[in-house]
Amino acid sequence: MDQTKAQRVVVMTGATAGLGAHALQRIAAQPGTRVIVGARGSGPSVPRGVEVVPLDLSSLASVRAFADEVTRQVGDARIDILVLNAGRQTSNADKPSVDGFELTFAVNHLAHYLLSRLLMPRMADHGRLVITTSDTHDPKITPIAPKTLEPQKLAHGFGAGVRAYSSSKLCNILTAHSFAALDEVKAREISVIAFNPGLTGGTSLGRDASRARRMLLTLLMRTVFRVAGLFRPEYVMGSAERSGELLAEVSLGNIAPPPGKIYVSLVKGEATFPDPSELARSRDAQDLLWRESAAMVGVA
Ligand SMILES: NC(=O)c1ccc[n+]([C@@H]2O[C@H](COP(=O)([O-])OP(=O)(O)OC[C@H]3O[C@@H](n4cnc5c(N)ncnc54)[C@H](OP(=O)(O)O)[C@@H]3O)[C@@H](O)[C@H]2O)c1
Repeated sequence: MDQTKAQRVVVMTGATAGLGAHALQRIAAQPGTRVIVGARGSGPSVPRGVEVVPLDLSSLASVRAFADEVTRQVGDARIDILVLNAGRQTSNADKPSVDGFELTFAVNHLAHYLLSRLLMPRMADHGRLVITTSDTHDPKITPIAPKTLEPQKLAHGFGAGVRAYSSSKLCNILTAHSFAALDEVKAREISVIAFNPGLTGGTSLGRDASRARRMLLTLLMRTVFRVAGLFRPEYVMGSAERSGELLAEVSLGNIAPPPGKIYVSLVKGEATFPDPSELARSRDAQDLLWRESAAMVGVA
């Protein structure tokens, strides 16, 4: 696209597959919008005009290189919308990230924490930071979700699979709360949103799981979740198209939580604005995670 005519700059992770790819289609179709996507691998498929900058969230060096390159490419312009949607879920414990952290914690939380710290100074006043979380962070919805926060244990491999995933998604909401509480963010009227797409089918989340586990999950979806969905709307599975549509709407500012709230949760195809878990709202937990994450990634 002719970048001299671009009025709005969007930077996005997790736009190459699943619900993020649907969101990207919609965001990139907005007139006057320049989109820069961080993606791993060679030549991911993105809509025409979208720029791709290499990013592997399992490496903090890659996150820093991405932030530097985005800063260089944006130049004197500002980032209006930063969408941190990438995520992974595995059923087993992995080998650690290149930096020595548990991989799900490293990719889903730590890399995005560092990226948003590095890019926040480049954001426009009245901009928007959107972090994709999950209602699996909440013990009321996922019984094995964390009830306490111990960042060092998460960083060094406490639990695996869904437990590590739901903990990393708790970290996403805690981080969103911490950003929203910063004086700089308030003064510059940057809005911060933690977005839960809800149980979403047709994405590649969990693709690393063994064939047997994927078959078991499909079976659970078709039986237990279907019955559970009659009583708990959070268990009703939505489509990647609808989740992506809502992520785009939230990112573009067409849907926003009420004043004082930051959580947008997609339930049965509609945006809702519930409170996240009690732990996610704990100021002590927010501060602890912020401090320890800063030390882990080496920022002040
Ligand atoms: N599906 C659900 O039921 C559900 C529910 C609640 C929340 N969520 C959240 O929604 C978001 C999108 O999930 P999805 O279901 O659409 O999953 P998906 O289809 O697997 O998409 C995940 C995205 O993250 C990117 N990604 C993963 N690891 C990366 C890394 N190391 N470096 C750079 N990019 C990386 C992937 O890139 P590649 O194309 O390179 O793999 C892809 O673009 C995630 O944050 C997930 O936690 C999903």
